[in-house]
Amino acid sequence: MSSDPLPAVSTTTPNVARMYDYYLGGKDNYAVDRECAEEVISRVPLTREIAQANREFLGRAVRFLSGEAGICQFLDIGSGLPTQENVHEVAQGINPASRVVYVDNDPMVLTHARALLATDAQTGVICGDVRTPGDILAHPELHRLLDLSRPVAVLLVSLMHFIPNERDPYQAVTTLMEAMPTGSYLVLTHVEHRRELEAGAQSYNRASAPVELRSLDQIGRFFDGLDLVFPGLVNVRRWRPDERVTVMDRDVPFYGGIGVKR
Ligand SMILES: C[S@@+](CC[C@H](N)C(=O)[O-])C[C@H]1O[C@@H](n2cnc3c(N)ncnc32)[C@H](O)[C@@H]1O
Repeated sequence: MSSDPLPAVSTTTPNVARMYDYYLGGKDNYAVDRECAEEVISRVPLTREIAQANREFLGRAVRFLSGEAGICQFLDIGSGLPTQENVHEVAQGINPASRVVYVDNDPMVLTHARALLATDAQTGVICGDVRTPGDILAHPELHRLLDLSRPVAVLLVSLMHFIPNERDPYQAVTTLMEAMPTGSYLVLTHVEHRRELEAGAQSYNRASAPVELRSLDQIGRFFDGLDLVFPGLVNVRRWRPDERVTVMDRDVPFYGGIGVKR
């Protein structure tokens, strides 16, 4: 387990990790988070459903990677507060040898992750920021757990819309995937740019990270140079739905896909 010093937890600024926890029905959030989250929900009533659909996609993606794709190394950046079906639980449930490195830049996420997720020798937690991917890639904890000469699944799930264009989001993804060997995977989900989401996105301007809405084409650019596995970049609910999907009949404005490096 890494012991990087942590920045202080702010209870006065709405926090995107804790707002997501609130959408999912979690208890790791403060009044300031709930107030901003309720404003988002009042502007975009589908918000809780979007969070749930995203989380369900993450579970299916890890099951696909651990099972069909035979992946046993995971780098989960923007991993979020511990909840149900955490990546190492799903992966190790299929392949007990799976190794998982969680990365987040949020102090409360890191504290909880160190207590609740990094509970075995194959799971680690790093303080890192996707905007500085070189620091993540150089981190000793990453190299203690992951062998970058063998395929790795890089998870950027509900993360890249928190990175505005001026912070080079596409270059960050390219840098991460260039460091991974052939046979590695990228898992990415992202909110879509729709007019009815703009007011909700504006609420995030006073939170710990703003939201950048992107079109389907702009989201697709994150997969440049990779081959998308079936069914491609689709509405998250339509990515290989299984019996665990809670709502089947309504799309959410959220896209997800898995690309493989050939
Ligand atoms: C909406 S949550 C997603 C959690 C999880 N990946 C999921 O999809 O269930 C976004 C997470 O990204 C983290 N995050 C936001 N900006 C980040 C950055 N620049 N670098 C690393 N993590 C970041 C937040 O702290 C939060 O935990």
